[in-house]
Amino acid sequence: MSIIEKKRGIVIALDVTDVDSAVELARQLCDLEGNFVFKIGRPLEMQRGYKVISEIKKVSRIPVVYDGKIADIPYISSRIAQIAYEAGADAVIVHGFVGRDVIESILELNRGDVIVVMSMTHPGASQYINPIAKQLVETVNTLGVDGVVLPATKPEIIASVAPVLRENIYIMSPGIKVQGAKVGDAIRAGADYEITGRAIYGASDPKKAAEELYKEILEV
Ligand code: XMP
Repeated sequence: MSIIEKKRGIVIALDVTDVDSAVELARQLCDLEGNFVFKIGRPLEMQRGYKVISEIKKVSRIPVVYDGKIADIPYISSRIAQIAYEAGADAVIVHGFVGRDVIESILELNRGDVIVVMSMTHPGASQYINPIAKQLVETVNTLGVDGVVLPATKPEIIASVAPVLRENIYIMSPGIKVQGAKVGDAIRAGADYEITGRAIYGASDPKKAAEELYKEILEV
């Protein structure tokens, strides 16, 4: 059973400049009502290591995803994931292009959700990673991962993958607002969660911005 539910929600990327600001932001957002998930990426991790995950967990009950975009050999990848889970992460993100054995090594830990990046939003993604999205479907379906990342900026990729994914795998999609996708584009194409960072932490009232985005995606 996955920790994060397969239902419409917003993933809030806590990509602020420093750890204290991230903890403060998590505190401000901790009593949001609805289906929200926090995401912690490498820039924060580089500042305070895995402890940033524990610090965010301390101030909020919202599930936390460690977005390390893990892409190493199985032995190292599973060690990175283990540290993140031990620090309190409910899920970790691993790149799919590194292959089945890497994803398997993290699943074998059986410590939390495993989310696989199948394709990405930036223009360069069309060079190598996006053309293999369909080939990754069989891998994620047969391994039984919990979630996948697909780009909101390329709804046609979401629309082609969503119907062939195993039914309980949730789809998280970044790229709304600042990167050009409209709120709701990814949901309309078959995603469950829209991931956003700057549209929330860059707003004058982040909590209000999060509430409004959530309302918008529920109305799609
Ligand atoms: P913004 O500020 O653009 O942040 O809302 C997006 C968040 O999503 C993470 N992420 C990705 N972002 N393309 C993206 O634009 C991807 O393929 C992707 N995968 C994950 C990003 O790290 C940031 O936290």
